[in-house]
Amino acid sequence: MRKIIAANWKMYKTCGEAAQTAAELSTALADGTPHDRLVLVFPPFTAMDVVAAAFAGKENLATGGQNFYPAEQGAFTGEISTAMLHDAGATWVLAGHSERRHVFSESDELVARKTVFALEQGFKVMLCVGEMLHERENGQLSDVLSRQLSTALEHLSDAQRETLAGRLAIAYEPVWAIGTGKVAGPVEVQEAHATLRALLASMLGDAAAELPILYGGSVKPTNASTLVGLDNVDGLLVGGASLEAQSFLQIIGS
Ligand code: PGA
Repeated sequence: MRKIIAANWKMYKTCGEAAQTAAELSTALADGTPHDRLVLVFPPFTAMDVVAAAFAGKENLATGGQNFYPAEQGAFTGEISTAMLHDAGATWVLAGHSERRHVFSESDELVARKTVFALEQGFKVMLCVGEMLHERENGQLSDVLSRQLSTALEHLSDAQRETLAGRLAIAYEPVWAIGTGKVAGPVEVQEAHATLRALLASMLGDAAAELPILYGGSVKPTNASTLVGLDNVDGLLVGGASLEAQSFLQIIGS
């Protein structure tokens, strides 16, 4: 399976700053190397079109929206639609990122509606799941991951379930490891990814083996190669260390 290395730029970078970083990435990856990696950037909305323009024509580079509202259009002040993201060049969306769940109180049900809607609209979805520290300490890892995954996937139509390969990726991001510098150790990451793979198999059958499961949470150039080499780790979702092109390029090459 082709590894996915994704950058979540969160609420960082003006258009000019985003254009510069995107141009550096595009130039460095111009010859398509490394061939076995798909590189995704989730920029702020205002910079989506400049990043998409910098990546135009490159099969190994794509952009995605960090957020959207699951309706075609309407009176949803402050929200953005998938049609608007498509117009700006995005082909992917994030759903269920821990900052959306915990800072903006997005429920499992809203994440589920977003997942189904984005797939219906032809988007590829990176569905983020992960436990909080107290949940891990209370032995609830498997329960939390199961609840988040099953709620997000239960309303998929049969047709959507049959065509998930290449259209759905899961990102395991333990909440306690995001932006904290505390990376989950190899044993913890392997345990969570194996749990996710088994949960996906129980929910989706054979299709589960084809769905990439990325790790995210304090990924750095220094730990990326260990993480990406673990069983069932099919890529990385990188926040802070993706903001500088050189740092992100090291992670892409690891
Ligand atoms: P981080 O963020 O790499 O800064 O921990 C990861 C994420 O939120 O996706």
